This record gives sequence, C-alpha cells and structure tokens, in this order.
Amino acid sequence: MMEKVLLKNAETPDSHTVGAYEASGGYQALATVLRDYQPDELIELVKESNLKGRGGAGFATGVKWGFVPKDPALKKYLCCNADEGEPGTFKDRAIMEKDPHQMIEGMILCAYAIGAETAYIYIRGEYTLSIQRLEAALQEAYDKGYLGQRILGSDFNLDIYVHCGAGAYICGEETALIESLEGRRGQPRLKPPFPAIEGLYASPTVVNNVETLACVPHIVTRGAEWFSAIGSASGPGPKLYCLSGHVRKPGLYELPMGIPLRELVEEHAGGAKPGRKIKAVIPGGVSAPMILESDLDVCMDFESLAAAGTMLGSAGVIVIDDNDCVVRVATRITEFFAHESCGKCSPCREGLSWAVKILRRLENGEGKEGDLEQLDFLCDGIFGNTFCALGDGAAWGLRRALQHFRDEFVYHVEKKECPFH
Ligand SMILES: Cc1cc2nc3c(=O)[nH]c(=O)nc-3n(C[C@H](O)[C@H](O)[C@H](O)COP(=O)(O)O)c2cc1C
Repeated sequence: MMEKVLLKNAETPDSHTVGAYEASGGYQALATVLRDYQPDELIELVKESNLKGRGGAGFATGVKWGFVPKDPALKKYLCCNADEGEPGTFKDRAIMEKDPHQMIEGMILCAYAIGAETAYIYIRGEYTLSIQRLEAALQEAYDKGYLGQRILGSDFNLDIYVHCGAGAYICGEETALIESLEGRRGQPRLKPPFPAIEGLYASPTVVNNVETLACVPHIVTRGAEWFSAIGSASGPGPKLYCLSGHVRKPGLYELPMGIPLRELVEEHAGGAKPGRKIKAVIPGGVSAPMILESDLDVCMDFESLAAAGTMLGSAGVIVIDDNDCVVRVATRITEFFAHESCGKCSPCREGLSWAVKILRRLENGEGKEGDLEQLDFLCDGIFGNTFCALGDGAAWGLRRALQHFRDEFVYHVEKKECPFH
C-alpha cells in the first residue's frame, strides 16, 4: 500500500491550518526553491518528475510551464482551476477543505517558475467550506510571509485572489474560465493561441488543476525521481480516485497512478453491492465513456485508458451494476451536458438537446423506429465539431453506451418499456 502523500494530513486535527501544514514539513519546498532554484531549474524539475495535469487532459505540467514566454516585460498569470464540476468528482474539494496550504504552496511555486505576481483561484461557487478554508489559509500565508511582497525575504512577490464561479460547468474549461474571470460570459475561446501564450487579459497564463498544483511541493521536497517512480511510468505520482455509484465503499482513495481499475473497484471500494454484479464503469467522470466489466483490468493512467477507448479524465469512477438501465444512465448524463452546454457551438447546443428528447422518449416507452440511428447521427455530428471538449465528451460517452449496450436500447424501442423499472 502506497504511503499517503496528498491526503497525508487529512485526518490530523486542524489539518487546514498553517500550523498543521508547517508541522508536516509544509512551506519547506518554498524556502528551498527561493534559496536554491532559478525559475528555469524548477520548471526542469517538474518536467523530470513527469507530472501530468490532473484536471482531465493529462498535459505535462512542466512542459506547459515552459511554454510561458520569459520576457520580463510581459505580465504573467496563474489560475488554479478549482471549478470541479465534472459529475462523479470530489477530489479537489478534499484538498481544499482538508489541506489548502498544500495547493497554495504549489501555486506559489508555479508562480515563481513562470514569473507571475498575480494568481487566481477560480473555485466552484457551491464549495462554501472550501472557499472559507482557502480565504483563511491565504490570510495565514500572508501573515507568515509566504505571500505578498518580498516573500521570505526574496525578490519574489505574489498575490493570490479567490474568485467564485456562479455554477456553470463550462467555466472549468480553461479558456471559458479565463473569459469568466475577465467578467464575460463563460464560453470557450478558439485555441490556438493557448493560454500559456495569450490567456488572461491577453497575457501568458498557466491554468492548472488543484491536485496538479498540490503535487508540486512534494516533488521539490522529495525529488523528481521519487515522484516518477510512483505507479505508471507514462504519467506517475500519487493520485486521488473518486469512487461512486454502486459499490460497497464509495469514497475518495489515494493510490498510485496506474493501478488496475479492477483493484480499485473490487478491493478498495469493496466491489458490487450484495447480490449485484458490476455491468460497466465510467472511469473518469461522465465525460469519459463507460467500459465493460470484462475490461476492468485496464490500468488507471492516461495512456492505458486511452488505448481502452476511454480516458482518465478527472478520475471520477462511477460504477454501474446489473440493476441499472444504461438508457437511463445515458439520458441522465446527456441531460446534464445539454443543460450545461454554453450554447456557443451549434452542434453541441442543438445536438445535445435533440438527443435528450429522443432518450427521454425511449425511457418513457415512446421510442420510434429510427431513434437509435438518429442518436448515432447526432453523436457523429457533435464529436469533433465544437470549440471545446464538452461536446466531445457528451457525444463520445453516448456513442459508447449505444455500442456496448445496443440490446438495451433496442429493447426500449421494440417493447416500449424499460426492462429495469
Ligand atoms: C467542459 C470542461 C470542463 C472542465 N472542467 C474542469 C474542472 O472543473 N477542473 C479542472 O481542473 N479542469 C477542468 N477541465 C480541464 C481544463 O480545461 C484544463 O485542461 C485543466 O484545468 C488544466 O489543468 P491541468 O493541466 O493541471 O490538468 C475541463 C475541461 C472541459 C472541456
């Protein structure tokens, strides 16, 4: 069993306070970096660790930081993506509620590496306890000289602000997040230019997920080699997995990257509920297509899951059992995406609400011949034809449900009823 890294302090009393964080070695990475590292050397260290972003896309963190232009005349920004809107995902919340200084120290280190003096935490507005804890932790960090002017006596200055989102899933997408921070409607921007070149206020901007940033202090204190030796070689490190759905022990598990999904579901989360059998699993939040029970030996890393036709995404693992109707699951998920579509791209805006109408019809026993072909057509029309990955995730998951469980969909059309309820 891997020692806990990201959740190591989670059960200690007052784990969210600066005192508890310092007692566990917190802010030593910052002192080390300000004393011994040039910004480029820190970027190199993060590259060597092979840390890949935990927000969904799995992009190499050090490489992203390295894209930021070095020109000192350019203002740079860091945005910590704490929007955590992907259904089935509750890992960033645990970090922010239990150990916010870990993420704040990661932010300070990233800002130092890229030369940013202003950083924002874009946080999901519903996360009230996280917001309170972050505000309190930031004040503590200012009081201790970890934030503000001349941090720990160095030439480095940094201010961090908390910005609360207003409940839109799309604002977790990095360019929509930036639009929203700028005070506009949260809608994605066309890429390129990527945020690292032209992001917030048209300036170079790094957007990183909470968990990604929380890994950074550990890479500094324990070394890139230590980090890259944990779990999967292609994307290593400690990982938070969110287990929900029909398992005996749902919850948050910290385990190495790359552990087999079967081990995660059957051993750690206790497997199927009594008398039930697992039918399928969504491995990475509802944007990730479900995989069949027979494929559960796949490893939980970016490459292995991509090869299995799905993705690690936000590591929101949702277990579907033999009592669940896949048409109903697909309807519920597609309803979410249709509701959250920002409306900018026609295929996503029109296609998803159209798909919802058909899916609801099937569930209500009013399916018609041609409905499944129409759903296939809609998936093809949405996938790859939108500015951001919201439409892709929605269409990809629906298409896979239609492929894997075609018989359930056909049953709904032909028998005009749901076999499960
Ligand atoms: C529709 C959509 C929603 C997203 N929501 C989140 C989110 O809530 N949190 C997050 O960290 N990344 C989210 N992402 C991914 C971000 O766009 C971006 O890849 C990530 O913040 C980069 O950080 P990382 O490199 O540390 O993973 C979302 C992407 C899409 C397309």
